[in-house]
Amino acid sequence: MTHQPMRVAVIGTGYVGLGTAALLAHIGHDVVGIDIDPDKIAALQSGQVPIHEPGLDDLLASVAHRLTWTTAYDAVSAADVVFICVGTPPGPDGSPDLQYVASAAANLAPHLNGHMQVIVNKSTVPIGTGDYVQRLLEEHAPGYDHGRHQVVSNPEFLREGTALADSLYPDRIVLGGAEGAVAKMTALYAPLIEQTFTAPATAPRPDGYTRPAVVRTTLQSAEMIKYAANAFLALKISFANEIAGLCERVGADIEEVATGIGLDQRIGHRFLQAGLGWGGSCFGKDTQGLISAGQEHNYPMPILEAAIEVNYRQRRVIIDKLLRQLKTLKGKKVGILGMAFKPDTDDLRDAPAHDLIQRLTQLGARVTAHDPIAMPRAAREWAHLTYQEAAQVEDVFDRADAVIVATEWTAYRLLDWTAMSGRMRAPVIIDARNIIRTPLDAELEQVGRSTVKGQVLPS
Ligand SMILES: NC(=O)c1ccc[n+]([C@@H]2O[C@H](COP(=O)([O-])OP(=O)(O)OC[C@H]3O[C@@H](n4cnc5c(N)ncnc54)[C@H](O)[C@@H]3O)[C@@H](O)[C@H]2O)c1
Repeated sequence: MTHQPMRVAVIGTGYVGLGTAALLAHIGHDVVGIDIDPDKIAALQSGQVPIHEPGLDDLLASVAHRLTWTTAYDAVSAADVVFICVGTPPGPDGSPDLQYVASAAANLAPHLNGHMQVIVNKSTVPIGTGDYVQRLLEEHAPGYDHGRHQVVSNPEFLREGTALADSLYPDRIVLGGAEGAVAKMTALYAPLIEQTFTAPATAPRPDGYTRPAVVRTTLQSAEMIKYAANAFLALKISFANEIAGLCERVGADIEEVATGIGLDQRIGHRFLQAGLGWGGSCFGKDTQGLISAGQEHNYPMPILEAAIEVNYRQRRVIIDKLLRQLKTLKGKKVGILGMAFKPDTDDLRDAPAHDLIQRLTQLGARVTAHDPIAMPRAAREWAHLTYQEAAQVEDVFDRADAVIVATEWTAYRLLDWTAMSGRMRAPVIIDARNIIRTPLDAELEQVGRSTVKGQVLPS
């Protein structure tokens, strides 16, 4: 089947918008990226990618002839499909703040033309937002026609750090909305659904991958699928952390326990890693978003509340481990390895390292922190925190009283841990991500498992 290239506008050029723009251009569509941030657009126009996502700069460069970047919404008038990919950060009460979605909808509406145009909500939004956006279009589009201007919910499932592979080879594509609009989206995604595109060198097609499932449903169900999927993953992580705490007390090893339970195909291994818990812009916000939706309907959601409680308790558990080792933190040098909320991204939103640094300084410690990628961003976004930047990873260890592994970057897995701990005053290492597998002459604490000085740890 031949695929018809379409013209697409992507509103919001953050992690999701850039991934969407790169994917759609790669499968043959002409894409214009629109953002209100003039610095971001200027960077993109000059060929720079304002975020760190492995392979994204190469992919965007390879399809640069199909991409344009602008701050002007009038580009919407030429588009067949308009994606809304703006942020939906949590508001003061924990429910998602829809001001950016509302402003994107209100700003794009006056540029809708008289033809069939599909408006796609890719931002993660509360159930009912599709109808809200439809209403905003109706209010703000001069030539609004319900039959021709329809909203589709197409939630995004990419993970930062593996965004390209997640977008090009998804498990499923969820399309919620009216039949005609969903059919247009199916045509837009046809090369993705049929996997007829050439795999980019930076993101080869995984062995055995055939094609994504397509879930065609209602707006409300599509919106709920996104929230429920994130909530389930979040609670899987919290479940592993809750079991890990008990493992420590009864002498079991969470790594072996997770292997044992994950082999059950009904459970699976993924998202069962015990450690410092989740961070980032999605899990906390989306679990809280579901709880807020429940509250509107007087419907408590105790499982999700517990998942959140266990997650943030984990940050305190790590400080408690450190206090047990050092007794007092006053004047002690504590190193933090990893600031981004997870490896392979520079995203600092809800990063556990933030709370660790804050608590450590409150307790009187002097903190030195390192991240392979996120340090410049932290200098801007964490100016309210007190810590010393480590120019190189060794600076975290030099004469330190303790070091905490907060993010499981591969570079940290590959460190010469014996040499590094030799640089410390009296080595105490809190490996909050369970990455160290070498015998160490140090006090080593991990999560959900006991370690013995000088002993090789099971992998
Ligand atoms: N980051 C992820 O891993 C991820 C994964 C799945 C879903 N999501 C969801 O996708 C959405 C976007 O997330 P993100 O991480 O890409 O956010 P982001 O903060 O990285 O990017 C949002 C962008 O939208 C721009 N923007 C805000 N208001 C605008 C407007 N009115 N017009 C044009 N541009 C505007 C901002 O300047 C920014 O560049 C959120 O709802 C998020 O929950 C994110």
